[in-house]
Amino acid sequence: MPSADPRAAESLLAFWAEAGVDAMLLDEPVDRIEAGKIVPPRPPERKAPAPAPAARGPGAAPDVAAAVAEARRLAALAQDLEELKAAIAGFDGCPLKFEGARQAVFGRGDPNAPLLVIGEGPGAEEDARGEPFVGKAGQLLDRMFAAAGLTGRVFITNTVFWRPPGNRTPAAHEQAVCLPFLERAIELVSPRMLLLVGAPSAKSMLKREEGILSLRGRWFEWRSEDGNLELPAMPTLHPAFLLRQPAAKKKVWSDLLTLTERLDRPERGG
Ligand code: URA
Repeated sequence: MPSADPRAAESLLAFWAEAGVDAMLLDEPVDRIEAGKIVPPRPPERKAPAPAPAARGPGAAPDVAAAVAEARRLAALAQDLEELKAAIAGFDGCPLKFEGARQAVFGRGDPNAPLLVIGEGPGAEEDARGEPFVGKAGQLLDRMFAAAGLTGRVFITNTVFWRPPGNRTPAAHEQAVCLPFLERAIELVSPRMLLLVGAPSAKSMLKREEGILSLRGRWFEWRSEDGNLELPAMPTLHPAFLLRQPAAKKKVWSDLLTLTERLDRPERGG
């Protein structure tokens, strides 16, 4: 029988919060009053027509192609990072926006940085503050950047701009609808290279299926969807993983040394 002790409930809630579970959301609402009753089968429902992109919002079925097209249109209109941030905040095509996120989280750092860092997606702290990588993992990332001489030389963003509920991994369609904005950010910042932090970032940006332990520390050529942008990209381990497995820090340190060696090499030509 479940305990009626409020301290036990409090402790369980604290345990869930610590594990990142702070939202109780299912795709469909559950009527718990009706759940125990026997319900006669309903006649088949006639399918409603797909909503127009403008009608998207809470509860709307995802129309990924329309949302990607709209994201691409809005992103192209943005002439600088401030305009891009505003465009993202006003975009309703990413379902994550309606799954408990408090606000859009875009980027922070030098708008002309030579290195663009792409993480997975905002966590609880980022959702509350509106900036990427400001929680414990972000602070570790900043310390590692400082040690590698990268402070002030990075622009940091994510594959999705709204916090996935319970810190789950962003789904491919959620990353796909955010990608036009991310690509526009890359175009506007115009970095010399990308650092892909964690498996969801590396796999979605490089379209590769290997595990992050095999991808990390290697150079890949990232290419935008339209093929117009190309940059060297290096995947590395996520700082949240390093908080759980500190012994892996030396791998990221080695990746950052490989990366800064190339970043500090004078550019040829010009
Ligand atoms: N983890 C990420 O991948 N991105 C953030 O912004 C914070 C934590």
